[in-house]
Parts: sequence; C-alpha cells; structure tokens
Amino acid sequence: MEERIVSGESQGHEDSEEHSLRPQTLSQYIGQKTVKENLTVFIEAAKMRQECLDHVLLYGPPGLGKTTLSMIIANEMGVNLRTTSGPAIERPGDLAAVLTSLEPGDVLFIDEIHRLNRSVEEVLYPAMEDYFLDIVIGKGPSARSVRVDLPPFTLVGATTRAGMLSAPLRDRFGVVSRLEYYTHDELQEIVERTAVVMDVTLETSAAEEVSRRSRGTPRIANRILRRIRDFAQVRGDGTINQEITSTALQLLQVDDLGLDHIDHKLLLNIIEKFRGGPVGIDTIAATIGEESHTIEDVYEPYLMQIGFLQRTPRGRMVTPLVYEHLNIEVPKT
Ligand SMILES: Nc1ncnc2c1ncn2[C@@H]1O[C@H](COP(=O)(O)OP(=O)(O)OP(=O)(O)O)[C@@H](O)[C@H]1O
Ligand SMILES: [Mg+2]
Repeated sequence: MEERIVSGESQGHEDSEEHSLRPQTLSQYIGQKTVKENLTVFIEAAKMRQECLDHVLLYGPPGLGKTTLSMIIANEMGVNLRTTSGPAIERPGDLAAVLTSLEPGDVLFIDEIHRLNRSVEEVLYPAMEDYFLDIVIGKGPSARSVRVDLPPFTLVGATTRAGMLSAPLRDRFGVVSRLEYYTHDELQEIVERTAVVMDVTLETSAAEEVSRRSRGTPRIANRILRRIRDFAQVRGDGTINQEITSTALQLLQVDDLGLDHIDHKLLLNIIEKFRGGPVGIDTIAATIGEESHTIEDVYEPYLMQIGFLQRTPRGRMVTPLVYEHLNIEVPKT
C-alpha cells in the first residue's frame, strides 16, 4: 500500500522519534478527558487497595494514543509493561509463556487484540477472570489438563475495531474506553509540545494550521510537523511559520481539511460513478483498488467524523458538504 502522510497508521521507520514524543504520565497526556478522568480514579483506587488495575480495553482509530496510554497505565501503576499483539500469539502455549513470566501487578498490553485466534482466546478467559491457565498437555488418550496459577495482572487490550471482538472477551474487561478524535485546540497543544521536544520554533499560527489539517490525530500532526520542519530548514531559517506550513502542506498535497488525493479519489469516485451513492463498501474498494477493511478502518472514520460520508443500510453516501469542498455542483435529482 502507498504511504500516506495523512494516514493514522504507524509507519515503521518513524518509531524511534515517536518514542521520544510519547507523554509518560496521565497529566502529560493531552485530551481524551473522559478516558483520562476515569483512569485516574481507577488507578488511584487500585493503588489504595494495593490491587492491580482491572483489565482495560482501549478502542478507536489508529494513531490516537492507545499504545501511549498503555505505557502510561503501567508507569502510573509503577509496574512493568509487557507488550505483544494478537497476531504474534499464535498458539495457547505462546500466551502461556507470556503470562507465566509476568510479575504480580504487571501490565500486559495486547495490541490488535481482535486478531487473537479462538483457541488462544479461550485460554485467556480464565486467566483474566481468576488468574489461572488450563493447559492441555499431550495428545489423544494420554492428554491431560494441567492447571497453572498466574500472578494477578492487568490486561490492556487495544483495537481499532471493538465490533470485531467476541462478546465473551469484551465482557471480561472491567474498563472499556473509546478514544475520540482530538479537537483542534488539543492537537495544537500536542504539536506545540512536540516542537519543544524537537527543539524547533513553531509560531502559533503555524501550530493552528497544522492542527486543523491533521485529521484529529496526534500521529498525523507529529508526522506533518516533521515534514514541515524539513521545509523550514531547507527553504527558510528553521523557524516554522504559517507561510512555510501552507507551502509545505500544498506540496505534500494535503488540503485544508487534511484530506489527500486518496480521499479525493474515493469521494470523487462515489460522485462520478455512483451519483453520490449509496454504494456498497466492497464496490468502492474494487473501483479505487483498495481493501475494504483499509477503507473502513483508516479512510472512512474521519470522513464520517467531519460529515462527508454517511453510512446507510444500502451503502455509503457523500453529503452536500463534499460537493462544496470539492467545488462540484450538486446534481439535480
Ligand atoms: N494524548 C496525547 N498527547 C500527546 N501525544 C500523543 C497523545 N496521544 C498520542 N500521542 C502521540 O501520537 C503518537 C501515536 O500514538 P500511539 O502510538 O499511542 O497511537 P495508537 O492509538 O496506539 O495507534 P495504533 O492504532 O496505530 O496502534 C505517539 O507517538 C504520541 O507521541
Ligand atoms: Mg498502537
């Protein structure tokens, strides 16, 4: 898949710098007011009772801070963090190996938890509920089940799609939190903090511009800021002002709302080939040459958030806002 500057998904090579930008404590974590307030109380209560925190499920679009929050939870609880992901745990034995190596109170973070397979999930249920594993050893008539006790631990699960989690797994999380897109003000605060960490001068008007064009997503805001920093260094004196920001974003083909050519292609396609919809997601995917689940997880949520796309029982529809934004006349019916 083509790399997009406005994609909320992580792009491997950024990892080292992303790491240094991560806030370490709840108070440094900007936005997500409800999630933060709840977690602050639950963490404090658990610490007062000297218990581990209840299992936490975090869900929401990519790049909104799920991984960051899991690190903060471990940090605030004063315990170790172990990180793995749904696809990495192939067999029940893999899960058992991770769980038995935990120390009491540790946080186990499972990213993309909706991708755990059924047999692994079933081992996870008693582990989450009563801190033990039932493992079957051997095959055929000599097979027997062994019970292994586990230290108490906190599972933090993250997923972009809560709907894909099985009900029994979902029900075992005591705390279920949905991360929301960030407001412009919150994003501005985030990029201003990033500029301090990167040691560049970022003018307020430029910070505002970046936050308006980052799709409510911190990862995108930070990525855009890095690119603009390049322009400021090469074409200017290193200071990031609004002029450099506008020029850079124009060259990067990111429009005023943070949409790029792929968003435009998707929207134009629905308008030109399907008279604005409704049209099924699979049909859209086929005509623009993308996977349906990529459209559903990555492209579509933001377009819906800003009221550009609507989901109807008969498929996706563009709204009049799209015609206005793309400067196209609304067809007469
Ligand atoms: N609330 C926040 N305050 C400041 N920076 C944030 C915040 N949330 C996220 N970030 C920044 O955004 C980047 C992406 O966050 P993170 O990796 O936690 O997202 P994610 O939700 O786990 O994404 P994915 O779904 O791809 O796993 C981090 O490097 C971090 O610096
Ligand atoms: Mg993550």
